[in-house]
Amino acid sequence: MNHPSMQGQRLNVPAYVKHAGLVAWVAEIAALTEPDDIYWCDGSQEEYDRLCAGLVASGVFKKLNPAKRANSFLACSDPSDVARVEDRTFICTERQEDAGPTNHWVAPAEMRALLQTGKADGTPGLFKGSMRGRTMYVVPFSMGPLGSHISHIGVELSDSAYVAVNMRMMTRMGKAVIDLLGTDGHFVPCVHSVGAPLQPGQADVRWPCNPTKYIVHYPATQEIWSYGSGYGGNALLGKKCFALRIASTMGRAQGWLAEHMLILGVTSPQGKKYHVAAAFPSACGKTNFSMLVPPAGYEGWKVTTVGEDIAWIKPGKDGRLYAINPEAGYFGVAPGTNEATNPNCLKMLDRDVIFTNVALTDDGDVWWEGLTDTPPAHLIDWQGKDWTPQIAKDTGAKAAHPNSRFTVSSTANPVLDPEWDNPDGVPIDAFLFGGRRSTTVPLVTEARNWTEGVYMASTMGSETTAAIAGQVGVVRRDPFAMIAFAGYNMSDYFQHWLDVGSKLAQGNAKLPRIYCVNWFRKGPDGKFIWPGYGENMRVLEWVVGRIEGKAQGAENAFGISPRYEDLNWNGLNFSKEQFARIIGMDHADWQQELKLHEELFTKLAYHLPAELGATKQRIAEKLAA
Ligand code: OXD
Ligand code: MN
Repeated sequence: MNHPSMQGQRLNVPAYVKHAGLVAWVAEIAALTEPDDIYWCDGSQEEYDRLCAGLVASGVFKKLNPAKRANSFLACSDPSDVARVEDRTFICTERQEDAGPTNHWVAPAEMRALLQTGKADGTPGLFKGSMRGRTMYVVPFSMGPLGSHISHIGVELSDSAYVAVNMRMMTRMGKAVIDLLGTDGHFVPCVHSVGAPLQPGQADVRWPCNPTKYIVHYPATQEIWSYGSGYGGNALLGKKCFALRIASTMGRAQGWLAEHMLILGVTSPQGKKYHVAAAFPSACGKTNFSMLVPPAGYEGWKVTTVGEDIAWIKPGKDGRLYAINPEAGYFGVAPGTNEATNPNCLKMLDRDVIFTNVALTDDGDVWWEGLTDTPPAHLIDWQGKDWTPQIAKDTGAKAAHPNSRFTVSSTANPVLDPEWDNPDGVPIDAFLFGGRRSTTVPLVTEARNWTEGVYMASTMGSETTAAIAGQVGVVRRDPFAMIAFAGYNMSDYFQHWLDVGSKLAQGNAKLPRIYCVNWFRKGPDGKFIWPGYGENMRVLEWVVGRIEGKAQGAENAFGISPRYEDLNWNGLNFSKEQFARIIGMDHADWQQELKLHEELFTKLAYHLPAELGATKQRIAEKLAA
């Protein structure tokens, strides 16, 4: 193909690119953002190594000691750019009610003027010239196995090499995707700029970003525009922006589900395998649960990981729901990860890892709070300052940022499920929904039917974590762990779940069972009562037992929960009294909880499915009885 240069810019289109629409779009964005150079990523190892070496040379990456962490790097971000910025995340639909009360909304024309075309008063769009002095990376990626009927393709144009190398880890990225696109394949266009153009001769900073941030989605045209941040879900646009916000709108239109869920396989000693998809808010242990090590007493049980953050779920021909993990890597929370909480994950982090915002040891390794009981005597913290246990004691300074992360390929997971790359996905037997609640919500409750399950998921609350810029530890309603990720009106999203269920039920399909779980109840001493982590296997076994029709439970106002004698306590010293404190439903707490459900439903009144109000009414009546 012969590609003209645009306004003096060379598009550098590789010969293997045959998609005129893609080339025209790259030319259009280059004309807007005016990068110095354009580079098309082929996804090869050679390219990854070269880009990483460039990041080391420019000071963005520090190469870690190869004897400790082979082929691994540490990046430390600007302190103002450390988490997803939900208050700067926008869903731009023509009608505000289609974005709904849980999303920030700006009309598309207004947002396009702000970002692209410029305002009537002559103020240029933020993207105008935003890549000056930088290279624009063309990053073609597939969310899901290459060529799967459940997968979708995106192309991210980014002025960040950090984004390019992280995208290689997080997605199936490169030439193979261009080949799949052919001459006219469909892709979701994703534009990303750190918003820090360089004047000729101007030296770069280590982590360029802009105090003004916009993470913008246009569901109608399936476009993503991200400005001002280089961090995580703000910048790796395949993840939250595409695989959840845009994909949820695709799923609604096409009859499938895009969810903030891990997917795991659990195999019993009898060799029976089940698949569970579980939704928990950010930094509530999805990664840990997805690679759980069964505790002593559970010999013969096996848990394997299909995915640890996102699931795309479609009805199959047999009427069951099949899930794929659209991602190919994990962008996991580092603090708290250790030999006891997630030994499988720790094994993944031996080599080929990009760490972001953890601390650096004196011998070129990394450390974060919780990695070891005793911290090293001296570290360089994530902000480049000296850190010692004494400094931490005196000032409270954290060595690693609480939302520090590792980026690592799925294939490094020692318990990766053999089906993780199956283009047809895995059949889902149960959905788990769980928030971080120190009170009120029992360890596990089974919904008696699909609607009751949708109610449990819709009213889920959770204490906020450091994954989100803002206050940590306050309870907010986080329906389906999707408060920040549903690309359309939340009540319509509830309706979509109800519709998927009733459609499957009409076909006489066996619907997955739905459970509400809570690992996080605390005692009066402020400590967690339930040991969690590997011990969550006991809950998983009960779920499997329910699916098989073997495990018993008792009805409560909310659903069905196990009694003490219904769980397997082999290998764990956990008394009946302790269990009572994590399974009980305190009457006063639940009166208060239902008030909060009502508040949520009032906020979501527009299009709220009537079934949910009716379910609430039934719970209130049972509670009163
Ligand atoms: C994530 C998040 O990074 O949910 O997965 O914040
Ligand atoms: Mn997540």
